Amino acid sequence: MPRAYIAGTGHYAPPNVVTNQDLVDKFKIDTTNEWIVQRTGIEQRHFAGDGVGPSDLGYEATQMALSRAGLTAADVDFIVFATLSPEHAFPGSGCYLQAKLGIPGVPAMDIRNQCSGFLYALAAAKGLVETGMSKTCLVVGGERHSSGLDLTTEGRQIACLFGDGAGAVVLRATSDEDFEKGRGIRWMNLGADGRFADALSQKVWDNRHAPFIPKDPVTGKGIVEKEKLWCQMDGKQVFKNAVEKMILSVMGMCMENQIEPADLDLVVCHQANLRINEYVRDQLGLSPEKVPNNIQRYGNTTAATIPILLSELEADGRLKRGMKVALVAFGSGFTWGSAYVVW
Ligand code: UT7
Repeated sequence: MPRAYIAGTGHYAPPNVVTNQDLVDKFKIDTTNEWIVQRTGIEQRHFAGDGVGPSDLGYEATQMALSRAGLTAADVDFIVFATLSPEHAFPGSGCYLQAKLGIPGVPAMDIRNQCSGFLYALAAAKGLVETGMSKTCLVVGGERHSSGLDLTTEGRQIACLFGDGAGAVVLRATSDEDFEKGRGIRWMNLGADGRFADALSQKVWDNRHAPFIPKDPVTGKGIVEKEKLWCQMDGKQVFKNAVEKMILSVMGMCMENQIEPADLDLVVCHQANLRINEYVRDQLGLSPEKVPNNIQRYGNTTAATIPILLSELEADGRLKRGMKVALVAFGSGFTWGSAYVVW
């Protein structure tokens, strides 16, 4: 059986940069650059313009990934799109992306696993490629968070964390030669603990009740209480579990693959909080060069963080053929995952 390998990476962030100081000056949020940098490492994020959805961001990232792989949209035979901020409740962003790429008939599926979404999508795509169901599988993580943030002082705990962006990778099956050299996604592990489902959630519509959004009896319009309109998060609970699960996930990955953390050339972590990643890095005993971050410039782009970082690392030469790379993520659900990739 061939192995799936990443043939190309790409990323895109909308041009509008919002600094921490902009949150204070333009949005009148009672916060400071110092507070945000000290607690999260974030210095700025990108916000998309009106009318731009995750599939638009994903389209741009896809163009870069395909061009770097030496392919065109016509080569894509499967789309897996990870997002927690799809254009609409349904259909999925993958279908919108497929239409924009002009490849009718190509299957498109959405994965809704939040900050672990990219790794869940990668696992699904890996299976499709390994079993021969897909020869060129596009895996995209794309988010438009800015429209779902309470950009007021009341929402500041969450509003300062998230940004918009997309990353894409193209998965293909290894040639015999690459297979012999060990190239490809060697191993993946996914996990979830639904007991913590409410610790990080957005319940803007609630299908347990009819109608799923309460209706104003006079106007007939839907009314969403602000607790349901905006994401709710137990930040400390998320932080604690993220650190624990990410470390355990990488350690387990090393054990299963009979390598030491020090054998890894790069550990590419989900970008939720610089402090989380620094803690994970220190516990694994790795140098800062081996655990790169770009949360400073993008904030948390959820399903897009890992492919954006991979794309930047590949472009500036820090990620090279033959490197041993770990990917690791943790997020709402709780969900988590890791991958061991020989680049
Ligand atoms: O992919 C998963 C996504 N989420 C995460 O990874 C989040 C993980 N958690 C975290 O990163 C941290 O919990 C946060 C950075 C979100 C918050 O840090 P914290 O140390 O847990 O702060 P806190 O929420 O307990 O708030 C501490 C104080 C509060 O004031 P009082 O009650 O002590 O007076 C907050 O009101 O900081 C205040 N605060 C802020 N102050 C200025 C909360 N947000 C802000 C803000 N600016 N943006």
